[in-house]
Order: sequence, then C-alpha cells, then structure tokens
Amino acid sequence: MAQKGATGWTPDSWRGKPIRQVPDYPDQKALAEAEAQLGIFPPLVFAGEARDLMKALGRVAEGKAFLLQGGDCAESFAEFRANNIRDMFKVLLQMAVVLTFGAACPVVKVGRMAGQFAKPRSGPTEEQNGTTLPAYRGDIVNGIEFEAAARRPDPQRLIRAYNQSAATLNLLRAFAQGGFADLHKVHRWNLDFVAGSPQGARYQELAGRLDEALAFMEACGLTGESSPQIRETNFYTVHEGLLLWYEQALTRKDSLTGEWYDCSAHMVWIGDRTRQLDGAHVEFARGIKNPIGMKVGPSLAPDELLKLIDVLNPANEPGRLTLIARMGADDVERRLPPLLRAVKREGRSVVWACDPMHGNTVKSKTGFKTRAVSRILAEVRGFFTAHAAEGTYPGGIHFEMTGQDVTECIGGAQAITDETLKDRYHTHCDPRLNASQALELAFTIAEELKRARAGDRRVAASAAS
Ligand code: PEP
Ligand code: CO
Repeated sequence: MAQKGATGWTPDSWRGKPIRQVPDYPDQKALAEAEAQLGIFPPLVFAGEARDLMKALGRVAEGKAFLLQGGDCAESFAEFRANNIRDMFKVLLQMAVVLTFGAACPVVKVGRMAGQFAKPRSGPTEEQNGTTLPAYRGDIVNGIEFEAAARRPDPQRLIRAYNQSAATLNLLRAFAQGGFADLHKVHRWNLDFVAGSPQGARYQELAGRLDEALAFMEACGLTGESSPQIRETNFYTVHEGLLLWYEQALTRKDSLTGEWYDCSAHMVWIGDRTRQLDGAHVEFARGIKNPIGMKVGPSLAPDELLKLIDVLNPANEPGRLTLIARMGADDVERRLPPLLRAVKREGRSVVWACDPMHGNTVKSKTGFKTRAVSRILAEVRGFFTAHAAEGTYPGGIHFEMTGQDVTECIGGAQAITDETLKDRYHTHCDPRLNASQALELAFTIAEELKRARAGDRRVAASAAS
C-alpha cells in the first residue's frame, strides 16, 4: 500500500533539521527512556476530535464562525489544581457567551491548556549577580528556581507534564460535557471577584437576556434535552509544539485513516521564533494532520509567508492553518495588510487570528514584565481595521489569561498600576489578563465582530441586488 502523507516525512524527520529553542539534555539515555515511556502511554486526544476541530476551523476560514483561543502563557506544576482549571474554563465560557450572544456568531473554543508547558526564551542562559545558568524553558524542561540543579533539563519532567495534561484534559472534558457548560448556568460562571466590577455587571445583564431567550426557546420546544448544544459544548486544546521529543512521542497513526496525528492536543502551533522554512518545527508540523497554528510576527515578509503556507497547507484545506498575527498595537495596521493581501491574492484559505499580547510586552517602571490592557485592546481594533480595509475575515483571537485575580497586566476596570503589579504577580512567564480584563477584551471583540459581520452582510446584500 502506498505510504500516505507528506513526501519524505516521518514522525522523526525533524531530527535531521536545524532546531532552535530547545534544551541540551545532558543525559541522553534518560531522555530516550522518557520518550520510550511516553511512546507507549495512551494518546491524550483522538484523531477524530482533531478532524472535528479542523472542520470547525474550516467554518471560521469561511467567515461563518469565530475562534476563541486562550489560556496560560505557561502552565506550571506548582499551579496545578482543580480550581485553577475550573476558573480558567469559566472565564473562557463567559467570553464565548459574550461573543456568541453579542455578535450572533458561533464560537470555536480552544484552551491553551493541558500541554502548554514549553517556552521559547530570548537567550539560552540567564545571568543573576554574576552567576550564569541555563534559561528556564518551562516546567516540562527544567525548574524556575535560579539554582543549578533546578535549571538542569530533566527528562522525567516530560512524564510529569504528560500526567498533568491528562488530568487537566479529563476535567475539561467532564466540564464541557457533564452539565457545567449548560447555558442555563451562565450566571454561575461569573467569578466572585469579577461580579462587583463593571465588566461583571455587564456580563450579568447579558446573562439575564440570555435567560429570556432560553425561556422563549423552551416555550417553543427547544430544550437541553432536544438540543444538546444548550447543555454541553465542544472544547479543544492547543499548545506550542515546541518540545519535539514530547510531540513525536505522542504522534500516532490513526487506525481509521492511516494518517499521522499529534495526539498531545487537538491543535499545535509553531512559535514566532521557530518558524524557519528549513527548520525542525516546520518539518514536524507539515506531516501531522492536526490543525496547525503559526505565529506571524513583524519580521515575516509576504513571500516568506506564502512559502510557509505552501509547506504547511499544500492542499489548501480550509481549517488546516491558522495564522496568529502578533504585530504590536503600533504596527498592526501597517504590517498586517501586506500579508492579508498576499494571502488573498494567492487564494490561500487560512484562519487569521490576532494575538494582541506578544507584540505589546514592556517592562514596567517597577521592573515587571507587563502589558497594558489599552495596548491589547488597541491591537485588537487595529486587527479588525486592517481586515475591513482588505476585505478579509478577522477570524479569531489568541490570548494569555487566567481565571485568578492576578495583577500582571496594567489597566482595565480594576485600574491596575505600575505600583500594584507586585500585589499578585504570579505568572511563570508572560503577564496574563485576569478574569475581569479578559471579559473586557471579550466585550471589545464582540463589538468589533458585530460591526465586521454587519459590514459583510451589507456587501452580500448589495452584491445580490
Ligand atoms: C507564546 O505564545 O507564549 C509565545 C511565546 O509567542 P510568540 O511565539 O508569538 O512569541
Ligand atoms: Co507568552
């Protein structure tokens, strides 16, 4: 039988390519053992689910749905507890409701969770008071403590990250399908510390209107029993496919189709620092059949982008490739349009999503890595403006948040300042929106999306008349 899939690709063909942003494992034997162990552990997701997500993303590519992708910058072993997963899920559900109801648009929900551990860093080492140690690369690689023993890459962490991902995914599945996500419970998703804020009040008002709509539908005979969409939801996972030993070990041949899927998550993305055409990360991603994301930063030129699309989505399948633009609020309206134009001109089907976080990271006067909510919202608006100008579809959002009441991003309704950043600054990597800032983001997107979709309807109506 002919071998299916990408030419010359095997799950380990990335090993022959230049690779960036991964650790040097001092103990190769221990690494091989951890890989072998992971290789016989059960897959975390099923290929059929990845295909379902691909179909859902195909609808996004056609402008018929919106992608909501968010979660931790870096999951950690220390913050692994049920309440954190629950609260993250609650906020994502709230955001989805705000978008679905506010913009009358189906929302595809994807959590940066259950595998989002490995991190690219600005340098391979970190220096503190004259001591140099390997950089912290995420809990799946080494420890965050600035001590030689902690910073040594330890392959046993692959196993621990797998186990944590399995337990996280198990709870997410239970929440999504077991009644927690029932639309009749929208009021209860509001977290206590958010309820008193203007965002929380605005959310409760929207939830009240949703209750009325549900009561009306019920009177018409549409209930949770007759329409499962009311009582449960589809929730998918995504992470950066950075640590390729882990990704390869969980890559399995689907028994139904004979195709290869990376069963560590429904979707994986390639980071802005590892998207070289001849590099290991692009090589790995091109052969797996999952939906793939790729970060698109300011240094990516249109012709390079088209070459990457050729490699990552040669069959031009809708939903296969999500381009996650992260330009920075000041540059998005200048840098994004040439890329939108090139992709449109060449007739390539992609989902365009906006990451308004990674191009807007600054150092606060008090020394914290932070982001201003106003800059984040400005990039979102710029993203919508660029699409409106080019006649392309603003398909999604990708962001870093938490359900906890942290003080990591400046601004928002709670008016977090330079001085108050220190109060609850808990992130292991980049500053995350807290729950109330995330809701604020959702309301902004809902307004923009509503306007964008109304514009589309006007264009369609005038074309038909
Ligand atoms: C991230 O999403 O956490 C990240 C590192 O992003 P980027 O590759 O866009 O810098
Ligand atoms: Co980040």
